[in-house]
Amino acid sequence: MMQDAHPSVKPHEVLTEYYDKDSEKEKFLREMFDTSAKHYDRILRYGFFGMGGHYRYRSLKQAGLRPGMRVLDIACGTGGVMQQAFRITPLSNIVGLDPSEGMLNVARGKFPDATFWHERAESIPSADKEFDFLVMGYALRHVSTFDEAFREYFRVLKPGGKVLLMEISRPRSHVGYLLAKLYLKQFVPALSFVICRDRAARKMMRYFCDSINACASRAVIVESLKQAGFEAAQCRTELGLFSAFTARKPD
Ligand SMILES: C[S@@+](CC[C@H](N)C(=O)[O-])C[C@H]1O[C@@H](n2cnc3c(N)ncnc32)[C@H](O)[C@@H]1O
Repeated sequence: MMQDAHPSVKPHEVLTEYYDKDSEKEKFLREMFDTSAKHYDRILRYGFFGMGGHYRYRSLKQAGLRPGMRVLDIACGTGGVMQQAFRITPLSNIVGLDPSEGMLNVARGKFPDATFWHERAESIPSADKEFDFLVMGYALRHVSTFDEAFREYFRVLKPGGKVLLMEISRPRSHVGYLLAKLYLKQFVPALSFVICRDRAARKMMRYFCDSINACASRAVIVESLKQAGFEAAQCRTELGLFSAFTARKPD
Protein backbone atom coordinates (compact mmCIF):
# COMPACT_ATOMS: atom_id res chain seq x y z
CA MET A 1 0.00 0.00 0.00
CA MET A 2 1.30 3.50 -0.81
CA GLN A 3 2.35 5.59 2.17
CA ASP A 4 1.02 9.13 2.51
CA ALA A 5 4.19 11.29 2.53
CA HIS A 6 2.45 14.13 4.39
CA PRO A 7 -0.20 12.63 6.64
CA SER A 8 -3.00 14.97 7.70
CA VAL A 9 -2.30 16.66 11.01
CA LYS A 10 -5.30 17.58 13.15
CA PRO A 11 -4.95 20.56 15.50
CA HIS A 12 -6.15 18.37 18.37
CA GLU A 13 -7.99 15.16 19.17
CA VAL A 14 -11.76 15.07 19.73
CA LEU A 15 -12.78 17.09 22.81
CA THR A 16 -15.53 14.82 24.09
CA GLU A 17 -16.82 17.34 26.62
CA TYR A 18 -18.07 19.32 23.61
CA TYR A 19 -18.58 16.93 20.66
CA ASP A 20 -18.24 13.18 20.12
CA LYS A 21 -16.37 12.74 16.87
CA ASP A 22 -14.32 14.72 14.34
CA SER A 23 -17.23 14.88 11.92
CA GLU A 24 -19.23 16.85 14.52
CA LYS A 25 -16.58 19.50 15.20
CA GLU A 26 -17.54 21.84 12.34
CA LYS A 27 -21.23 21.95 13.36
CA PHE A 28 -20.34 22.36 17.03
CA LEU A 29 -18.05 25.32 16.27
CA ARG A 30 -20.50 27.00 13.95
CA GLU A 31 -23.32 26.81 16.51
CA MET A 32 -21.07 27.95 19.35
CA PHE A 33 -19.80 30.99 17.47
CA ASP A 34 -23.23 31.84 16.04
CA THR A 35 -24.73 31.78 19.53
CA SER A 36 -21.94 33.72 21.24
CA ALA A 37 -21.06 36.25 18.53
CA LYS A 38 -22.93 39.04 20.30
CA HIS A 39 -20.71 38.58 23.37
CA TYR A 40 -17.34 38.15 21.69
CA ASP A 41 -16.14 41.77 21.60
CA ARG A 42 -17.19 42.47 25.18
CA ILE A 43 -15.31 39.41 26.46
CA LEU A 44 -12.18 40.52 24.59
CA ARG A 45 -12.48 44.02 26.03
CA TYR A 46 -12.89 43.00 29.68
CA GLY A 47 -11.23 39.56 29.79
CA PHE A 48 -8.10 40.64 27.94
CA PHE A 49 -7.95 44.30 28.99
CA GLY A 50 -8.57 45.50 25.43
CA MET A 51 -4.91 44.71 24.62
CA GLY A 52 -5.74 42.55 21.62
CA GLY A 53 -6.04 45.43 19.16
CA HIS A 54 -2.57 46.73 19.80
CA TYR A 55 -1.04 43.24 19.62
CA ARG A 56 -2.83 42.43 16.35
CA TYR A 57 -1.66 45.72 14.77
CA ARG A 58 1.95 45.22 15.85
CA SER A 59 1.97 41.62 14.63
CA LEU A 60 0.57 42.61 11.23
CA LYS A 61 3.30 45.28 10.84
CA GLN A 62 6.07 42.94 11.98
CA ALA A 63 4.88 40.21 9.63
CA GLY A 64 5.23 42.59 6.69
CA LEU A 65 1.75 44.00 6.00
CA ARG A 66 2.25 47.18 3.96
CA PRO A 67 -0.07 49.83 2.45
CA GLY A 68 -1.67 48.70 -0.78
CA MET A 69 -1.38 45.00 -0.10
CA ARG A 70 -4.39 42.76 -0.77
CA VAL A 71 -5.26 40.92 2.43
CA LEU A 72 -7.32 37.82 3.23
CA ASP A 73 -8.43 37.70 6.86
CA ILE A 74 -9.29 34.07 7.53
CA ALA A 75 -11.64 33.45 10.49
CA CYS A 76 -12.31 37.18 10.60
CA GLY A 77 -14.93 36.71 13.33
CA THR A 78 -16.29 40.08 14.44
CA GLY A 79 -13.56 41.94 12.54
CA GLY A 80 -10.87 42.41 15.20
CA VAL A 81 -7.98 41.74 12.82
CA MET A 82 -9.66 43.55 9.94
CA GLN A 83 -9.95 46.69 12.07
CA GLN A 84 -6.17 46.71 12.55
CA ALA A 85 -5.30 45.74 8.96
CA PHE A 86 -7.48 48.66 7.81
CA ARG A 87 -5.07 51.04 9.61
CA ILE A 88 -2.38 49.86 7.18
CA THR A 89 -4.12 49.07 3.88
CA PRO A 90 -7.48 50.26 2.43
CA LEU A 91 -10.63 48.38 3.42
CA SER A 92 -11.33 47.71 -0.26
CA ASN A 93 -8.13 45.60 -0.30
CA ILE A 94 -9.27 43.38 2.60
CA VAL A 95 -11.56 40.34 2.43
CA GLY A 96 -12.87 38.67 5.60
CA LEU A 97 -13.78 34.97 5.61
CA ASP A 98 -15.64 33.09 8.34
CA PRO A 99 -18.04 30.11 8.52
CA SER A 100 -20.15 31.66 11.31
CA GLU A 101 -22.98 33.83 10.02
CA GLY A 102 -23.41 35.22 13.55
CA MET A 103 -19.81 36.43 13.72
CA LEU A 104 -19.99 37.78 10.16
CA ASN A 105 -23.13 39.77 10.98
CA VAL A 106 -21.31 41.59 13.78
CA ALA A 107 -18.38 42.30 11.42
CA ARG A 108 -20.71 43.51 8.65
CA GLY A 109 -22.27 45.95 11.13
CA LYS A 110 -18.83 47.50 11.71
CA PHE A 111 -17.65 47.43 8.09
CA PRO A 112 -20.72 47.63 5.83
CA ASP A 113 -18.59 48.29 2.74
CA ALA A 114 -16.15 45.44 3.24
CA THR A 115 -16.22 42.12 1.37
CA PHE A 116 -16.99 39.01 3.41
CA TRP A 117 -17.02 35.38 2.40
CA HIS A 118 -19.15 32.91 4.36
CA GLU A 119 -16.76 29.96 4.11
CA ARG A 120 -14.14 27.87 5.88
CA ALA A 121 -10.35 28.10 5.72
CA GLU A 122 -10.29 24.68 4.07
CA SER A 123 -12.26 25.86 1.00
CA ILE A 124 -11.47 29.47 0.11
CA PRO A 125 -13.69 30.77 -2.72
CA SER A 126 -10.83 32.59 -4.43
CA ALA A 127 -8.83 32.20 -7.62
CA ASP A 128 -5.17 31.17 -7.23
CA LYS A 129 -2.55 33.85 -6.42
CA GLU A 130 -5.02 36.58 -5.44
CA PHE A 131 -3.57 37.88 -2.17
CA ASP A 132 -0.33 39.47 -0.95
CA PHE A 133 -0.95 38.75 2.72
CA LEU A 134 -3.02 36.16 4.57
CA VAL A 135 -3.78 36.41 8.27
CA MET A 136 -5.64 34.13 10.67
CA GLY A 137 -6.32 35.28 14.22
CA TYR A 138 -6.97 32.76 16.98
CA ALA A 139 -8.65 30.10 14.88
CA LEU A 140 -5.94 27.65 13.90
CA ARG A 141 -7.33 25.17 16.42
CA HIS A 142 -10.65 25.16 14.58
CA VAL A 143 -9.60 23.84 11.16
CA SER A 144 -10.09 20.13 10.34
CA THR A 145 -6.44 19.57 9.47
CA PHE A 146 -3.49 21.94 9.08
CA ASP A 147 -2.73 20.40 5.69
CA GLU A 148 -6.13 21.22 4.21
CA ALA A 149 -6.00 24.82 5.43
CA PHE A 150 -2.35 25.50 4.58
CA ARG A 151 -2.75 24.03 1.10
CA GLU A 152 -5.46 26.63 0.49
CA TYR A 153 -3.36 29.43 1.99
CA PHE A 154 -0.51 28.54 -0.34
CA ARG A 155 -2.82 28.42 -3.35
CA VAL A 156 -4.48 31.82 -2.86
CA LEU A 157 -1.26 33.73 -2.04
CA LYS A 158 0.80 35.35 -4.78
CA PRO A 159 4.44 34.25 -5.10
CA GLY A 160 6.30 36.07 -2.32
CA GLY A 161 3.03 36.41 -0.36
CA LYS A 162 3.14 36.30 3.42
CA VAL A 163 1.16 34.43 6.02
CA LEU A 164 0.62 35.37 9.68
CA LEU A 165 -1.13 33.02 12.10
CA MET A 166 -1.76 34.44 15.57
CA GLU A 167 -2.57 31.89 18.22
CA ILE A 168 -2.52 31.41 21.97
CA SER A 169 -0.12 28.60 22.81
CA ARG A 170 0.16 26.42 25.85
CA PRO A 171 3.02 27.82 27.99
CA ARG A 172 6.09 25.56 28.15
CA SER A 173 6.94 26.16 31.80
CA HIS A 174 4.90 24.38 34.47
CA VAL A 175 4.25 27.58 36.42
CA GLY A 176 3.25 29.46 33.25
CA TYR A 177 0.91 26.61 32.32
CA LEU A 178 -0.77 26.61 35.73
CA LEU A 179 -1.18 30.40 35.74
CA ALA A 180 -2.57 30.43 32.21
CA LYS A 181 -4.95 27.60 33.03
CA LEU A 182 -6.19 29.39 36.13
CA TYR A 183 -6.72 32.60 34.20
CA LEU A 184 -8.15 31.17 30.96
CA LYS A 185 -10.13 28.23 32.30
CA GLN A 186 -11.45 29.68 35.55
CA PHE A 187 -11.30 33.48 35.57
CA VAL A 188 -12.20 34.37 31.95
CA PRO A 189 -15.20 31.95 31.69
CA ALA A 190 -16.54 33.18 35.06
CA LEU A 191 -16.07 36.82 34.06
CA SER A 192 -17.73 36.11 30.70
CA PHE A 193 -20.79 34.73 32.47
CA VAL A 194 -20.95 37.72 34.82
CA ILE A 195 -20.69 40.38 32.10
CA CYS A 196 -22.82 38.59 29.47
CA ARG A 197 -25.31 36.79 31.73
CA ASP A 198 -25.25 33.89 29.28
CA ARG A 199 -23.96 30.34 29.75
CA ALA A 200 -23.05 30.24 26.05
CA ALA A 201 -20.39 32.92 26.64
CA ARG A 202 -18.91 30.90 29.49
CA LYS A 203 -18.90 27.73 27.38
CA MET A 204 -17.14 29.52 24.50
CA MET A 205 -14.36 30.65 26.80
CA ARG A 206 -13.99 27.22 28.43
CA TYR A 207 -13.69 25.72 24.96
CA PHE A 208 -11.14 28.40 24.13
CA CYS A 209 -8.95 27.21 27.00
CA ASP A 210 -9.47 23.45 26.47
CA SER A 211 -8.68 23.64 22.77
CA ILE A 212 -5.50 25.64 23.50
CA ASN A 213 -4.36 22.98 25.96
CA ALA A 214 -5.07 20.19 23.51
CA CYS A 215 -3.52 21.89 20.48
CA ALA A 216 -0.54 20.50 18.56
CA SER A 217 2.85 21.99 19.45
CA ARG A 218 4.37 25.05 17.79
CA ALA A 219 6.94 22.77 16.11
CA VAL A 220 4.20 20.69 14.48
CA ILE A 221 2.51 23.84 13.15
CA VAL A 222 5.78 25.20 11.75
CA GLU A 223 6.51 21.82 10.13
CA SER A 224 3.01 21.73 8.57
CA LEU A 225 3.62 25.16 7.03
CA LYS A 226 6.86 23.87 5.51
CA GLN A 227 5.12 20.74 4.22
CA ALA A 228 2.59 22.98 2.47
CA GLY A 229 5.45 24.60 0.56
CA PHE A 230 6.06 27.74 2.63
CA GLU A 231 9.59 28.96 3.33
CA ALA A 232 11.01 30.83 6.33
CA ALA A 233 8.31 29.28 8.53
CA GLN A 234 8.86 30.27 12.15
CA CYS A 235 7.11 31.06 15.40
CA ARG A 236 7.72 33.98 17.75
CA THR A 237 6.14 33.63 21.18
CA GLU A 238 5.69 36.45 23.69
CA LEU A 239 5.07 35.95 27.41
CA GLY A 240 5.11 32.21 26.72
CA LEU A 241 1.53 32.53 25.47
CA PHE A 242 1.08 34.73 22.38
CA SER A 243 2.42 32.99 19.29
CA ALA A 244 2.82 34.54 15.86
CA PHE A 245 3.59 32.02 13.12
CA THR A 246 4.96 33.59 9.96
CA ALA A 247 5.94 32.13 6.61
CA ARG A 248 6.39 33.13 2.99
CA LYS A 249 5.37 31.61 -0.31
CA PRO A 250 8.50 31.25 -2.49
CA ASP A 251 8.87 33.62 -5.52
C1 LIG B 1 -11.86 33.24 18.36
S1 LIG B 1 -12.66 33.76 16.88
C2 LIG B 1 -11.39 34.79 16.18
C3 LIG B 1 -11.92 36.01 15.50
C4 LIG B 1 -10.89 37.03 15.00
N1 LIG B 1 -9.95 36.45 14.06
C5 LIG B 1 -10.12 37.70 16.11
O1 LIG B 1 -8.89 37.78 16.04
O2 LIG B 1 -10.75 38.17 17.04
C6 LIG B 1 -12.52 32.28 15.96
C7 LIG B 1 -13.25 32.32 14.61
O3 LIG B 1 -12.87 31.17 13.85
C8 LIG B 1 -13.97 30.85 13.03
N2 LIG B 1 -13.78 29.49 12.50
C9 LIG B 1 -14.12 28.31 13.05
N3 LIG B 1 -13.81 27.29 12.25
C10 LIG B 1 -13.22 27.82 11.14
C11 LIG B 1 -12.71 27.29 9.92
N4 LIG B 1 -12.68 25.98 9.68
N5 LIG B 1 -12.22 28.16 9.01
C12 LIG B 1 -12.22 29.50 9.23
N6 LIG B 1 -12.72 30.05 10.35
C13 LIG B 1 -13.20 29.23 11.30
C14 LIG B 1 -15.15 31.01 13.96
O4 LIG B 1 -16.37 31.09 13.27
C15 LIG B 1 -14.77 32.28 14.71
O5 LIG B 1 -15.33 33.42 14.13
